[in-house]
Amino acid sequence: MKERVLLVGGGGREHAIARALADTTVYGFSSNRNPGIDSLAETVHLGSETDTDAIVDFATEVDATVAMIGPEASLAAGVVDALEDAGVYAFGPPAEMARLETDKAYQREFMAEQGIDARPAFETFGNPEPAIDYLESVDGDVAVKPRGLTGGKGVRVTGDQLSKTEATVYIRESDYKEWVIEERLVGEEFTVQAFVANDTVRPTLAVQDHKRAYEGDEGPNTGGMGSYSDTGPVLPFMTREEYEAAVEILEETVEALGDYRGVLYGQFMLTSEGPKVIEYNVRFGDPEAMNTLPVLETDFLDVLTAARNGSSLPALEFSGQATVCKYAVPSGYPVDPDAGAKITVEVNEATETDRYYASVDEQEDGLYTTTSRSFAVLGRGESIVKAESRAEAALVDVGEGFHIRHDIGTDELVESRIDHMETIRGM
Ligand code: GLY
Repeated sequence: MKERVLLVGGGGREHAIARALADTTVYGFSSNRNPGIDSLAETVHLGSETDTDAIVDFATEVDATVAMIGPEASLAAGVVDALEDAGVYAFGPPAEMARLETDKAYQREFMAEQGIDARPAFETFGNPEPAIDYLESVDGDVAVKPRGLTGGKGVRVTGDQLSKTEATVYIRESDYKEWVIEERLVGEEFTVQAFVANDTVRPTLAVQDHKRAYEGDEGPNTGGMGSYSDTGPVLPFMTREEYEAAVEILEETVEALGDYRGVLYGQFMLTSEGPKVIEYNVRFGDPEAMNTLPVLETDFLDVLTAARNGSSLPALEFSGQATVCKYAVPSGYPVDPDAGAKITVEVNEATETDRYYASVDEQEDGLYTTTSRSFAVLGRGESIVKAESRAEAALVDVGEGFHIRHDIGTDELVESRIDHMETIRGM
């Protein structure tokens, strides 16, 4: 049977998924036009990524045999449930299980109830005032999290981004009402994404994302400015045992969830006591999908069809290349972004670089920036340093009107992560 894959979502992550499925027939459904997905898909339908009826209608129209859902908002809206009701298998969790990402209070309570101990101490609050009282009463620094989805931009950490007094003002002035306040975790952050279905958990390589807007991890949080992975599953600042401990936490989580299917994304803090869960996501990361799928040698379609057919997922093979991904975002992003800069960066296979579009405005004479992340360049190579220099070489012609974190994946930044972990372990 010739597979027909419905792909929901139109960002850089979904462009990477479309490329991983380039040998099959893909039908896109997204709220924005992504020229990268357009060039790979049979057709792309524009519509709201949370409109479950419209997504089911499109899946039926194109006779989709399997669906891959990119964005968390679609999962939260129940797209997987609706497709399942219509007889279309979707590789993603139903809305009830997507709460693991979309409801931070549920996430922590689930971990506590299931005895998954790799987590900080936490308290949950239904109103701002008790959250503020608690914040003022606790010793030590905390992470302050709105309960729901915030596009990665809602969390504030005291002793890092702001003082405790500023955190109380943040809660009081915020539009968010419900909060989780938890002990601040100190260490190095990393992500492990696993493919999960039919009691199989297949972990992929560890990746380190960079959420802060400016070099040196300064500035406001963003959706992610870039990320790197090494030639094997482990990042330079961690041991093999620490990576395996993170994978065990994901396995423990899947067991506690029961019949989970889709991508389970663990955002970990590597602390002096090993990895602890900062949060779970129930989908690929953006940009982490760009570090993972281009070096995955196992056919991603085989993962999707094995999941649908009730089989064990195939063992995963990777190319052994390191990757460095850097997002080009409009100048002023995320606070006061200027749209309208022309995108001129070229990539090609000979230079081991790829380009993934996120949010771009397609005009007759070319592509222009919007006010969101524009595109990512991925360099691949036999080391992180080599992959980084390839990404930078491609970005040299980026022109005016863009901001890029040039420090991501540099030897200097990676060494500082190793030094940081050595200090933490020695504490
Ligand atoms: N890279 C962060 C996220 O995808 O949520």
